[in-house]
Amino acid sequence: MILHRLQLTHFRNFASLDIQPGPGKNYFIGENGQGKTNLLESIYCLGLIKSFRASSDLELVQKGTTGYQISGEIYNELSVHHKVAIVYNQGRKAVSFDGKKIARHASLVGQLPIVLFNPEDHRITSGSPSERRRFLDIILSQSHKSYLASLQEFQKILKHRNRLLVNIREGNSKPDELDAWDWNLAKSGHHVMAMRKAFIERIQGPLKDIYARIAARPAELVIRYSPSDENAATDAQGFISALQSHRQAELLRQQTLIGPHRDDVIFYLNGMDARRHASRGEQKSILLALKLIEYDYLKESSETLPLLLLDDIYSELDEKRQSRVVEQLMQIGQSFITSTHIHGDLDQASTVFKIVQGTLEQIH
Ligand SMILES: Nc1ncnc2c1ncn2[C@@H]1O[C@H](COP(=O)(O)OP(=O)(O)OP(=O)(O)O)[C@@H](O)[C@H]1O
Ligand SMILES: [Mg+2]
Repeated sequence: MILHRLQLTHFRNFASLDIQPGPGKNYFIGENGQGKTNLLESIYCLGLIKSFRASSDLELVQKGTTGYQISGEIYNELSVHHKVAIVYNQGRKAVSFDGKKIARHASLVGQLPIVLFNPEDHRITSGSPSERRRFLDIILSQSHKSYLASLQEFQKILKHRNRLLVNIREGNSKPDELDAWDWNLAKSGHHVMAMRKAFIERIQGPLKDIYARIAARPAELVIRYSPSDENAATDAQGFISALQSHRQAELLRQQTLIGPHRDDVIFYLNGMDARRHASRGEQKSILLALKLIEYDYLKESSETLPLLLLDDIYSELDEKRQSRVVEQLMQIGQSFITSTHIHGDLDQASTVFKIVQGTLEQIH
């Protein structure tokens, strides 16, 4: 996909912006705090209908105003044009595609596939399990419509079920009321888990190969899905059985203990858990390999090139070898690169914007 026009109104520190990015590399050069990450965030919002760093839409609204707008004109490899618009005002968010209002925002996710590299990504390899689940969710939501639908359904039921567990504990509900919820939880929960499991199995080989190419010395990387209960990931019946065998513990803790919300992913580097044993450099290489897998996977599943958003990549990729890998990716599709200054030689086809306090000027 190509984003050929981006318009913002009252988004973060942009009062108003209207730019036409080029089809290749787009650099946004500016000092700290000028709006570089905000700009990438607005593009990310067009693809995923939510931010990668704000917990609420309110944060995205320019201070002193009541709403924001993001509008993007995109076209695909067949030159079919579309327009995506997000309008948020006084707590209400409206999303439209080619002028038509979209009731279920999640149905748009995947139209504009996006791969983001940002400085917080190191949490995928070093942080808590929720970071790894988020990584899986971002890829699978963009590549399979049914995944995001099941995930949202699961989260809704989980909330109700957890409330019920508390009510049972307090004597306001009976344990057999759980049965009705269990079946629905199993249907959506099992689907999410099965898709995560299949995804991890599918990337197993390619990830090992890519890591071997990036790593400075011979090394073997293995990725393993680690669910709360193996049975729960096999089928809905297995999920129900797992719930039943954990019921006493769930009643005691007033929490649902089985499901995709308890999943983890473990990376083994040369047989050792990378989160605990890998060096910082090795963790960076694992991360880079994962991001390349994400790009390839989205490219294949969506049959279009994802947009590449590279935030401060140069300060993150210290090794020459690593920057070369990303440079290769930047040659393929459209990319948006932020930096405080230009690195190396600019090729003729690149577009460069200078960014100062939320205003942009095209300088190349
Ligand atoms: N809702 C908002 N309204 C107005 N300004 C905002 C809002 N949210 C963030 N900002 C401002 O946007 C500015 C730029 O933020 P941004 O993270 O994009 O900077 P950056 O150019 O990426 O900087 P760095 O190089 O340090 O990463 C900050 O000064 C911040 O105060
Ligand atoms: Mg930034």
